[in-house]
Amino acid sequence: MKKTFTLIFILLVVILGYVVVRAITAPVKLSAAQLGFQLIHSNKKGIDCFACHAIDGKGGTIGPDLSKEGLLKHSIHWIEIQIKAPDKHFKSGSMIKINGKSYMAIMPDHKMLSKKELFELASYLDSLK
Ligand code: HEC
Repeated sequence: MKKTFTLIFILLVVILGYVVVRAITAPVKLSAAQLGFQLIHSNKKGIDCFACHAIDGKGGTIGPDLSKEGLLKHSIHWIEIQIKAPDKHFKSGSMIKINGKSYMAIMPDHKMLSKKELFELASYLDSLK
């Protein structure tokens, strides 16, 4: 009887140990928004957003501040199109208003970015509230 209990106890400790070790060593899966954060802060070709846009006080002022882009309620798809081909939304060279401020629509297209990269960037911007 005592032996059985000892065996069950050892078995439980082994299983628990296995679960804990697995939890600690499992690779962390980043969300699309987290990957987009990493991407926008990288030096990858075509990632030039901070030249014109500011997020949380850092970046340019040629384009609108993106710190609260998620509050504008654009769909992820809309943001993807905006990054890839902005002239689909704003006629290039025209004067436009975003959030009460005037801008000249001069955002370049980013056709070199992959679908995955566009989705990650759009997910990140959508998460900014
Ligand atoms: C040369 C300057 C410039 C660069 C570089 C640039 N943008 Fe823009 N962006 C603008 C301007 C100006 C607008 C206003 C609309 C337009 O020009 O199409 C804009 C608009 C946007 C908008 C729409 C804001 C809204 O909701 O109305 C998003 C989103 C955006 N840019 C994201 C990006 C991202 C992401 C990058 C980098 C991959 C980037 N932009 C690179 C200038 C720029």
